[in-house]
Amino acid sequence: MQTLWFQEEWPVSITVIGSNNTDLITYITRFPVEGETIEAPDFEIGFGGKGANQAVAAARLGSEVIMMTCVGDDAFGAATIENLAHNGIDLSLVKQVHGTSGVAPIFVDPDSHNRIIIVKGANNGLLPEDVEAGAHAISKTSLIVCQLEIRMETVAAAIALGKRLGIPVLLNPAPATKDLDLELVAQCAYVMPNESELELLTGIATETEEQVKRAAQVLLEAGCPNVIVTLGSRGVRWLSHTGDDVFIAPFSIDPVDTTGAGDAFIGCFAHCLSEGLEVREGLELANAYAALSVTARGTQKSYRDAQEFRSWLSDRDHVLAESPVLHR
Ligand code: RIB
Repeated sequence: MQTLWFQEEWPVSITVIGSNNTDLITYITRFPVEGETIEAPDFEIGFGGKGANQAVAAARLGSEVIMMTCVGDDAFGAATIENLAHNGIDLSLVKQVHGTSGVAPIFVDPDSHNRIIIVKGANNGLLPEDVEAGAHAISKTSLIVCQLEIRMETVAAAIALGKRLGIPVLLNPAPATKDLDLELVAQCAYVMPNESELELLTGIATETEEQVKRAAQVLLEAGCPNVIVTLGSRGVRWLSHTGDDVFIAPFSIDPVDTTGAGDAFIGCFAHCLSEGLEVREGLELANAYAALSVTARGTQKSYRDAQEFRSWLSDRDHVLAESPVLHR
């Protein structure tokens, strides 16, 4: 694999193998109908992509992160590399190909809900052989985090490598797709879908708590030991093969922009896991971190560092402010 940077013996704890995008966020009052042109009050450009978002969230909280991703040879690619470096992420597995980088036009409505289109671009250039080529660097980390904005065969290679090296894999099966094989999911230590991804994966409706549990059970029975379902304003549900059935209540918050909240959750949870925290405490912290992220506009722009997160929790007299993973 042709890489752009090489850093010897950089201590890393988390490998993220996934996408990067440039988010083009338009804040709208409504969608235009066919043939209509309307004005939107605001626009922001920012760094995004589920993989990069999760990597940046974990890094801002203090994890040492190595990211395997692919950028194009355009201005967006160059800015993305600079952004990853600025966030202290190890770039030695970043690849560059000829062509355009990934972009994501995003529309956020007045209720802070978003609609996202992704154009994968260079993200499609990340190949299974790149994962193999990065095995040595990846073998030094304690957790591999993947999503589905890159080729499925590359995700499969990442999961297989994790298995071979004995490194737990956390899979966020997003965006939702029917093409994800349950046999792949079964090899991951943690699978973290939202309700619609879980529904598509299992073919079971996820409107009620009972349905969510039934659908999660399908993934447990397939062989995945931990199924964590993020339910947005309905909270989080964790079911494990050893019988854990834990519900984490949502934070009551006035959302400004929910874009990237799921990635904030996963990045924070990955940070907690790699710091040795128990799953439940990691989920409580991730839940709070995602809530904090929706109080500000933008994707990565809304991710705070450990100190900011800690003082937000302290201002709310929240016991999580004392968590050791925020005091390093
Ligand atoms: O999860 C939010 C992300 O989805 C955005 O940053 C966008 O780039 C898409 O990948």
